[in-house]
Amino acid sequence: MSSPTATLIRNGRVITASDDYVADVLLQNGVVHTIGQHIEVGPDVRVIDATGLYVLPGGVDTHVHLENVIGPSVTCDTFASGTKAAAFGGTTTVVDFALQTATDSPLQAIARAQRSAESQVAVDYSLHVIVTRVDAQVLHDVRHAMHHEGVTSFKMFMAYPGVMMADDASIFRMLRQVGADGGMVALHAENGTVIDLLIQEALEAGHTSPRYHALTRPAIMEGEATHRGIRLAELAQAPIYFVHVSSNEALKHIVTARAEGIPVFAETCPHYLLFDDSVYHGDDLEIAKYVMTPPLRTSRDQKHLWRALRYDDLQVIATDHCPFCMKEGHLGYRMQKMRGKDDFSQIPNGAPGIETRMVSLFDIGVMQGKLSLNRFVELTSTAPAKLFGLFPKKGTIAVGSDADVVLFDPAATQTIHAHHLHGNCDYTLLEGRTLRGRVEKVFLRGQLIVDGAQWLGRSGMGRFVPRGQVRAF
Ligand code: URP
Ligand code: ZN
Ligand code: ZN
Repeated sequence: MSSPTATLIRNGRVITASDDYVADVLLQNGVVHTIGQHIEVGPDVRVIDATGLYVLPGGVDTHVHLENVIGPSVTCDTFASGTKAAAFGGTTTVVDFALQTATDSPLQAIARAQRSAESQVAVDYSLHVIVTRVDAQVLHDVRHAMHHEGVTSFKMFMAYPGVMMADDASIFRMLRQVGADGGMVALHAENGTVIDLLIQEALEAGHTSPRYHALTRPAIMEGEATHRGIRLAELAQAPIYFVHVSSNEALKHIVTARAEGIPVFAETCPHYLLFDDSVYHGDDLEIAKYVMTPPLRTSRDQKHLWRALRYDDLQVIATDHCPFCMKEGHLGYRMQKMRGKDDFSQIPNGAPGIETRMVSLFDIGVMQGKLSLNRFVELTSTAPAKLFGLFPKKGTIAVGSDADVVLFDPAATQTIHAHHLHGNCDYTLLEGRTLRGRVEKVFLRGQLIVDGAQWLGRSGMGRFVPRGQVRAF
């Protein structure tokens, strides 16, 4: 059968954020058409026996950096390579960033990112605008983006002074307007100016090794900025979302604020759950792989993150996929990790993870009894879809939802190697690690794009998804 009109997934175990049952699922016209028992179909419908497999909603990764310019470096995944990798990992929607530069407006930033993405994306996508400068025109454009462009979230940085950092008043102005309009401001919370001072002092003392990356970005400065962000949101009467929460110093403010009824939401990332700061004691060059921001924290912090994931103080696990190659010149990419071999502050911050998110969390979360299956789906698909205005089109398996479906084999195992992955990055933090669970098939709006090791998708088949208001409560 060359191009079936529809697909029936028979006898799989359908798992959403709230349900867990065995059923047949009929995908037709790009959406979930019918869910039922013993569905009868004609010969033109492809039937897939999913006995023993989980039928999961496609993953939604709301924190990825594809083709992002970060200082002098550009992330080494394009929209094409990054979204193909996402698909192989069971993620069918990503939200990337459109960076407002010194001279352009949020609307120009959106248009620029869309121009680049359009012909390349292999899964559906949206954009958060990184707002670096706020004035009346910018606020006007932000409102326009929300109401006419389907871009309803905006990221601001309390770190990286002189590059992306916004001051408190700018963050407050954005929170007040975006919150009133039903959108979300996402914050990178670290005290940028103090961290820059610590970096400067470390370098002046001759501390150039990558291990000083972590030492100069202490958790207490993540906590301070998180607390400040919460107070700004409280004053603005707006919801707020913290990206890449890594430490209990940050988490404790989030927990308190939520208990007080302040609409604070937050994500953590797989690397904070998989690794701790003991990696920074290793070989200098190797450490560059783990230079991401915030840095990896202690095993105690990790325990707090798991607790918060279980009890909903953290709602999302996103990757912060921000890949830079280890080998300078790999696939032609320059200014990558080795740029900082003699000066840790020159190492571009970030690590890859877009393809391994689902399976690594299944292994360390579900299989190790830290997360239920429903919670796993909620954290990786449903909650990010709700918080960023994609639900119920994305983030669940329900009649009428997009037919973004993953068939996942919980009984399979796989050993991760960078050269088996589909992105451009020349390393993975999970090299050689054996994980339980495997993505078997992936459907994007009903089209089979991943079938085992076979790629059936194509660049450009992904679509920009206009987003609605946040559904945070
Ligand atoms: O290390 C990271 N996370 N790099 C990407 C930029 C950011 O801060 O999200
Ligand atoms: Zn960040
Ligand atoms: Zn990021």
